[in-house]
Amino acid sequence: MVAKIKMKQLFPLLAMPVLAALYSYSTVARAETAEAGAVQISRGKYLVQFGGCTDCHTPGYRFGKPDSTRFLGGSDVGMRVSGLGTFVPPNLTPDKETGLGAWTKEQIITAIQTGVTPSGRVLAPVMPWHAYAGLTKSDAGAIVDYLKTLPPVNNQVPGPFGPVEKPPIYTITLMPPANTTQHN
Ligand code: HEC
Repeated sequence: MVAKIKMKQLFPLLAMPVLAALYSYSTVARAETAEAGAVQISRGKYLVQFGGCTDCHTPGYRFGKPDSTRFLGGSDVGMRVSGLGTFVPPNLTPDKETGLGAWTKEQIITAIQTGVTPSGRVLAPVMPWHAYAGLTKSDAGAIVDYLKTLPPVNNQVPGPFGPVEKPPIYTITLMPPANTTQHN
Protein backbone atom coordinates (compact mmCIF):
# COMPACT_ATOMS: atom_id res chain seq x y z
CA MET A 1 0.00 0.00 0.00
CA VAL A 2 2.79 2.34 0.99
CA ALA A 3 4.64 1.46 -2.18
CA LYS A 4 1.49 2.07 -4.24
CA ILE A 5 1.03 5.58 -2.87
CA LYS A 6 4.64 6.34 -3.50
CA MET A 7 4.39 5.17 -7.12
CA LYS A 8 1.28 7.30 -7.60
CA GLN A 9 3.08 10.35 -6.31
CA LEU A 10 6.16 9.54 -8.30
CA PHE A 11 4.36 8.92 -11.55
CA PRO A 12 3.95 12.53 -12.65
CA LEU A 13 7.57 13.20 -11.83
CA LEU A 14 8.73 10.17 -13.78
CA ALA A 15 6.34 10.70 -16.65
CA MET A 16 7.20 14.31 -17.26
CA PRO A 17 10.70 13.88 -18.68
CA VAL A 18 9.50 10.91 -20.75
CA LEU A 19 6.63 12.93 -22.20
CA ALA A 20 8.92 15.89 -22.80
CA ALA A 21 11.40 13.67 -24.63
CA LEU A 22 8.63 12.13 -26.72
CA TYR A 23 7.25 15.57 -27.52
CA SER A 24 10.59 16.98 -28.63
CA TYR A 25 11.33 13.80 -30.60
CA SER A 26 8.04 14.08 -32.49
CA THR A 27 8.62 17.80 -33.12
CA VAL A 28 12.06 17.04 -34.57
CA ALA A 29 10.65 14.12 -36.58
CA ARG A 30 7.89 16.35 -37.93
CA ALA A 31 10.35 19.10 -38.86
CA GLU A 32 12.52 16.53 -40.65
CA THR A 33 9.49 15.15 -42.56
CA ALA A 34 8.49 18.68 -43.58
CA GLU A 35 12.04 19.36 -44.75
CA ALA A 36 12.13 16.10 -46.73
CA GLY A 37 8.78 17.06 -48.31
CA ALA A 38 10.13 20.50 -49.29
CA VAL A 39 13.25 18.94 -50.85
CA GLN A 40 11.07 16.45 -52.76
CA ILE A 41 8.80 19.25 -54.06
CA SER A 42 11.69 21.44 -55.24
CA ARG A 43 13.21 18.40 -56.97
CA GLY A 44 9.83 17.85 -58.67
CA LYS A 45 9.71 21.49 -59.77
CA TYR A 46 13.21 21.17 -61.24
CA LEU A 47 12.27 17.98 -63.12
CA VAL A 48 9.06 19.52 -64.46
CA GLN A 49 11.05 22.51 -65.77
CA PHE A 50 13.66 20.27 -67.33
CA GLY A 51 11.09 17.77 -68.63
CA GLY A 52 9.44 20.52 -70.69
CA CYS A 53 5.94 19.73 -69.38
CA THR A 54 4.93 23.38 -69.76
CA ASP A 55 5.78 23.41 -73.50
CA CYS A 56 2.78 21.22 -74.08
CA HIS A 57 0.56 21.53 -71.01
CA THR A 58 0.41 25.35 -70.46
CA PRO A 59 -2.07 27.38 -72.55
CA GLY A 60 -0.57 30.08 -74.73
CA TYR A 61 2.82 28.41 -74.88
CA ARG A 62 2.49 27.44 -78.56
CA PHE A 63 1.49 31.01 -79.41
CA GLY A 64 4.63 32.36 -77.74
CA LYS A 65 2.72 33.69 -74.71
CA PRO A 66 2.55 31.05 -71.98
CA ASP A 67 -0.19 32.00 -69.52
CA SER A 68 1.58 31.80 -66.16
CA THR A 69 -1.71 32.27 -64.30
CA ARG A 70 -2.84 28.94 -65.79
CA PHE A 71 0.52 27.14 -65.53
CA LEU A 72 0.10 23.50 -66.63
CA GLY A 73 -3.65 24.15 -66.82
CA GLY A 74 -4.08 22.35 -70.18
CA SER A 75 -3.13 23.40 -73.69
CA ASP A 76 -5.12 25.30 -76.29
CA VAL A 77 -3.41 23.49 -79.16
CA GLY A 78 -4.04 19.89 -80.22
CA MET A 79 -1.30 17.57 -81.42
CA ARG A 80 -2.26 15.55 -84.44
CA VAL A 81 -0.76 12.10 -84.96
CA SER A 82 -1.32 10.74 -88.43
CA GLY A 83 -3.72 7.78 -88.40
CA LEU A 84 -4.29 8.02 -84.65
CA GLY A 85 -6.05 11.30 -83.92
CA THR A 86 -5.59 14.69 -82.27
CA PHE A 87 -4.65 14.94 -78.61
CA VAL A 88 -4.80 18.07 -76.50
CA PRO A 89 -2.33 18.09 -73.58
CA PRO A 90 -4.62 18.00 -70.54
CA ASN A 91 -4.80 19.97 -67.32
CA LEU A 92 -2.16 18.73 -64.85
CA THR A 93 -3.22 20.94 -61.91
CA PRO A 94 -5.01 19.44 -58.89
CA ASP A 95 -8.45 20.66 -60.03
CA LYS A 96 -10.85 17.83 -59.09
CA GLU A 97 -13.20 18.11 -62.10
CA THR A 98 -10.88 18.97 -64.98
CA GLY A 99 -7.37 18.24 -63.73
CA LEU A 100 -5.60 15.49 -61.82
CA GLY A 101 -7.22 16.27 -58.44
CA ALA A 102 -9.11 12.97 -58.30
CA TRP A 103 -6.12 10.83 -59.36
CA THR A 104 -3.92 9.15 -56.75
CA LYS A 105 -0.18 9.73 -56.72
CA GLU A 106 0.33 6.17 -57.99
CA GLN A 107 -2.12 6.69 -60.90
CA ILE A 108 -0.30 9.83 -62.03
CA ILE A 109 3.11 8.11 -61.82
CA THR A 110 1.73 5.21 -63.90
CA ALA A 111 0.42 7.60 -66.58
CA ILE A 112 3.73 9.50 -66.76
CA GLN A 113 5.85 6.35 -66.92
CA THR A 114 3.70 3.80 -68.79
CA GLY A 115 1.10 5.98 -70.53
CA VAL A 116 -1.78 4.06 -68.91
CA THR A 117 -4.50 6.28 -67.42
CA PRO A 118 -6.96 5.20 -64.67
CA SER A 119 -9.59 4.56 -67.38
CA GLY A 120 -7.19 2.08 -69.01
CA ARG A 121 -6.59 4.18 -72.13
CA VAL A 122 -2.99 4.34 -73.30
CA LEU A 123 -1.82 7.91 -73.94
CA ALA A 124 -0.72 8.80 -77.47
CA PRO A 125 3.06 8.84 -77.74
CA VAL A 126 3.05 12.62 -78.35
CA MET A 127 2.97 12.63 -74.56
CA PRO A 128 6.61 11.52 -74.17
CA TRP A 129 5.90 8.80 -71.62
CA HIS A 130 8.38 6.49 -73.36
CA ALA A 131 11.08 8.99 -72.43
CA TYR A 132 9.79 9.39 -68.86
CA ALA A 133 9.64 5.60 -68.36
CA GLY A 134 13.30 5.75 -67.38
CA LEU A 135 12.76 8.17 -64.48
CA THR A 136 13.51 6.69 -61.07
CA LYS A 137 10.42 5.98 -58.98
CA SER A 138 11.57 8.66 -56.57
CA ASP A 139 11.91 11.31 -59.32
CA ALA A 140 8.51 10.40 -60.81
CA GLY A 141 7.07 10.70 -57.29
CA ALA A 142 8.75 14.10 -56.84
CA ILE A 143 7.12 15.35 -60.07
CA VAL A 144 3.70 14.30 -58.77
CA ASP A 145 4.32 15.82 -55.32
CA TYR A 146 5.15 19.11 -57.06
CA LEU A 147 2.10 18.92 -59.40
CA LYS A 148 -0.09 18.50 -56.30
CA THR A 149 1.15 21.87 -54.96
CA LEU A 150 0.05 23.82 -58.07
CA PRO A 151 -2.91 26.20 -57.81
CA PRO A 152 -5.90 24.35 -59.32
CA VAL A 153 -7.03 25.64 -62.71
CA ASN A 154 -10.53 24.81 -63.92
CA ASN A 155 -10.06 24.01 -67.59
CA GLN A 156 -11.34 20.97 -69.44
CA VAL A 157 -9.39 20.39 -72.65
CA PRO A 158 -11.40 19.00 -75.58
CA GLY A 159 -10.84 15.63 -77.23
CA PRO A 160 -9.27 13.26 -77.83
CA PHE A 161 -10.37 13.37 -81.47
CA GLY A 162 -10.31 10.44 -83.89
CA PRO A 163 -8.18 10.46 -87.06
CA VAL A 164 -10.95 11.78 -89.31
CA GLU A 165 -12.51 14.21 -86.84
CA LYS A 166 -11.94 17.93 -87.29
CA PRO A 167 -10.96 19.42 -83.92
CA PRO A 168 -12.41 22.93 -83.32
CA ILE A 169 -9.05 24.25 -82.09
CA TYR A 170 -5.59 24.94 -83.47
CA THR A 171 -3.55 21.81 -84.09
CA ILE A 172 0.05 20.98 -84.73
CA THR A 173 0.27 18.60 -87.67
CA LEU A 174 3.15 16.89 -89.42
CA MET A 175 2.61 17.53 -93.10
CA PRO A 176 3.82 15.02 -95.67
CA PRO A 177 6.13 16.25 -98.45
CA ALA A 178 4.25 18.33 -101.05
CA ASN A 179 4.23 15.61 -103.71
CA THR A 180 2.74 12.95 -101.41
CA THR A 181 -0.94 12.30 -100.66
CA GLN A 182 -1.73 13.45 -97.15
CA HIS A 183 -2.51 10.72 -94.64
CA ASN A 184 -5.38 11.00 -92.21
C1 HEC B 1 5.44 17.11 -76.42
C2 HEC B 1 4.27 17.43 -75.62
C3 HEC B 1 4.19 16.95 -74.19
C4 HEC B 1 5.14 17.07 -73.19
C5 HEC B 1 6.54 17.65 -73.28
C6 HEC B 1 4.53 16.51 -71.99
N1 HEC B 1 3.26 16.06 -72.25
FE1 HEC B 1 2.01 15.17 -70.94
N2 HEC B 1 0.65 14.89 -72.43
C7 HEC B 1 0.77 15.36 -73.73
C8 HEC B 1 -0.42 15.00 -74.48
C9 HEC B 1 -0.69 15.36 -75.95
C10 HEC B 1 -1.23 14.29 -73.61
C11 HEC B 1 -2.59 13.65 -73.95
C12 HEC B 1 -2.36 12.37 -74.73
C13 HEC B 1 -3.63 11.60 -74.97
O1 HEC B 1 -4.72 12.10 -74.63
O2 HEC B 1 -3.54 10.47 -75.49
C14 HEC B 1 -0.54 14.24 -72.32
C15 HEC B 1 -1.04 13.61 -71.19
C16 HEC B 1 -0.45 13.64 -69.94
C17 HEC B 1 -1.00 13.07 -68.74
C18 HEC B 1 -2.35 12.35 -68.64
C19 HEC B 1 -3.36 13.32 -68.12
C20 HEC B 1 -4.80 13.00 -68.40
O3 HEC B 1 -5.68 13.73 -67.89
O4 HEC B 1 -5.09 12.06 -69.16
C21 HEC B 1 -0.13 13.33 -67.72
C22 HEC B 1 -0.28 12.94 -66.25
C23 HEC B 1 0.98 14.07 -68.28
N3 HEC B 1 0.75 14.23 -69.63
C24 HEC B 1 2.03 14.55 -67.55
C25 HEC B 1 3.15 15.18 -68.12
C26 HEC B 1 4.30 15.60 -67.37
C27 HEC B 1 4.44 15.49 -65.86
C28 HEC B 1 5.19 16.13 -68.26
C29 HEC B 1 6.58 16.63 -68.01
C30 HEC B 1 7.47 15.78 -67.23
C31 HEC B 1 4.56 16.04 -69.58
N4 HEC B 1 3.32 15.47 -69.45
C32 HEC B 1 5.14 16.49 -70.75
C33 HEC B 1 1.85 16.06 -74.25
C34 HEC B 1 3.02 16.32 -73.59
